[in-house]
Amino acid sequence: MTVFSTQASLTELDPTALRRCMASFVTGVTVMTVLDADGKPVGLTANSFSSLSLDPPLIVWSLRLNSSSMPIYQQAQRFVVNILADDQIDISNRFAKSAPDRFNGVSYQPGMAGVPLIDGCIAYLECKLEATYPGGDHLLFVGRVERIQQTERPPLAFVGGNYVAVKALTP
Ligand SMILES: Cc1cc2nc3c(=O)[nH]c(=O)nc-3n(C[C@H](O)[C@H](O)[C@H](O)COP(=O)(O)O)c2cc1C
Repeated sequence: MTVFSTQASLTELDPTALRRCMASFVTGVTVMTVLDADGKPVGLTANSFSSLSLDPPLIVWSLRLNSSSMPIYQQAQRFVVNILADDQIDISNRFAKSAPDRFNGVSYQPGMAGVPLIDGCIAYLECKLEATYPGGDHLLFVGRVERIQQTERPPLAFVGGNYVAVKALTP
């Protein structure tokens, strides 16, 4: 399967072309975990994650408005950014499905206030919800980072709708 198209052209802004253009931006892959109102762990795959501010320490990600998980993420005062390793494609796919219990069989540790840290990730950012902002057909979630953990595992990346590995080009 071809990941990259070599053709670059000025097209009118049609949704498919825009989607394809956006998808050419390489991202990491995260699972945003929260506890629902009953204290049950919930997770959702997101690559819209980005650092936002160092001082104060803020991050941002966005969730589409028509996500069935939206009410859960809006009520959650805390969330964890679980940054996936390159051997966690199954975790990414599992948390991208509209299944009721995506945590079934997934091993994790309870982080601050019990919000799940999924085992085997390369990094965790434990956040307090700072603010939400409207962003077209998405809602932006800004989190204040309260605790971080990091390992030296290789990251999972995503581009053109495909999972890829990251290869260093500089020493
Ligand atoms: C690699 C990848 C990245 C994704 N990033 C986002 C994202 O940033 N925001 C979002 O709303 N959905 C994103 N999705 C889709 C959601 O994970 C998916 O729609 C959601 O888990 C379905 O559950 P829901 O029905 O509860 O919304 C992504 C999916 C994949 C595979």
